Amino acid sequence: MTGRICGTGSAVPKLRVTNDDLSKIMDTSDEWIKSRTGIEARHLATEETTTSLAIEASRLALENAGVEAEELDLIIAATVSSDHIIPTLSCEVQSALGAVNATAFDIGAACSGFLFALSTVQAYMMSGQCKKALILGAEVLSKIMDWNDRSTCVLFGDGAGAAVISAEDTGIMSVVHGSDGAKGMVLACDNRPVNNPYKKTTADLSYVSMNGQEVYKFAVRTVPKCIEQALEQAGVTADEISCFILHQANRRIIEAVAKRLKQPIEKFPMNLMECGNISAASVPILLDNVNRHGMIEKEEKIVLAGFGAGLTWGAAVLTW
Ligand code: UT7
Repeated sequence: MTGRICGTGSAVPKLRVTNDDLSKIMDTSDEWIKSRTGIEARHLATEETTTSLAIEASRLALENAGVEAEELDLIIAATVSSDHIIPTLSCEVQSALGAVNATAFDIGAACSGFLFALSTVQAYMMSGQCKKALILGAEVLSKIMDWNDRSTCVLFGDGAGAAVISAEDTGIMSVVHGSDGAKGMVLACDNRPVNNPYKKTTADLSYVSMNGQEVYKFAVRTVPKCIEQALEQAGVTADEISCFILHQANRRIIEAVAKRLKQPIEKFPMNLMECGNISAASVPILLDNVNRHGMIEKEEKIVLAGFGAGLTWGAAVLTW
């Protein structure tokens, strides 16, 4: 028994902000952002929240799967930008959907979060603990960006993506993942500092900081290796894969992975032009875009891959 994705959904905020829009409020340009990353625009939350986007994406995924909320026995939300420390995002989604029979918890593996959630669901399904699950990635990263730091804030966006997974004989063929905490500080954001009657703090709020070049080097080295391991475990060659759905951080990273795997770039759909990098939501939003455009046929094999803060990485081979 394994897990098979049987429905997807996604949601992005209404406000679309182009590179030119940003160049009016900071010292940047469409030319710099587009040539370095491929990003042309991103959606930023104004009325929306991480929770509202997560709920919308989840409802659409259930509808797409033809599954009722009561049928879910597991909900896993991947996020680094939930609205509350408690209750967790997954519990809020459970409540909004009326998924009264589900156990719900969050995982925080940043841009690899959706892959880690997928792997967890597969383990639950293989051990017979779960029959229908909802996994989602949801982020409002704009609230943890330093809008005075042009080297990070132009790269990220807000949104949510979700998938319903059903226990079946075929579906997830392999999942591999890993972490390197020793390199954690290359992409970081502090939570609240210690603050109690015995230790007062006056520290300002922390925002995302990134050593872009270190993350870039890590990504181009690790992602192809991780995909190759997932392919080997699944007993499938890269040529047999119809679609590689990678975390949407940077067009140049995706092109480097395609080259290393000796695969045409056409097999690597992208939405980073319109969405930027949405951390845990990138992979499921792109998966939903591809699914709804009918770009994957039933029984075709696809690869999902994520990488980012932690450092963390993960890749999966799936039969659609
Ligand atoms: O999901 C997490 C995954 N994250 C990633 O995958 C990010 C990976 N890294 C990258 O994508 C790239 O490293 C970046 C796009 C972040 C940066 O590209 P780069 O080619 O490594 O640029 P750089 O950091 O070397 O910056 C070059 C110059 C600097 O100016 P000087 O010092 O050379 O004069 C920056 O100050 O570009 C300047 N710069 C900007 N200029 C205009 C930095 N940000 C901007 C900006 N607009 N927004």
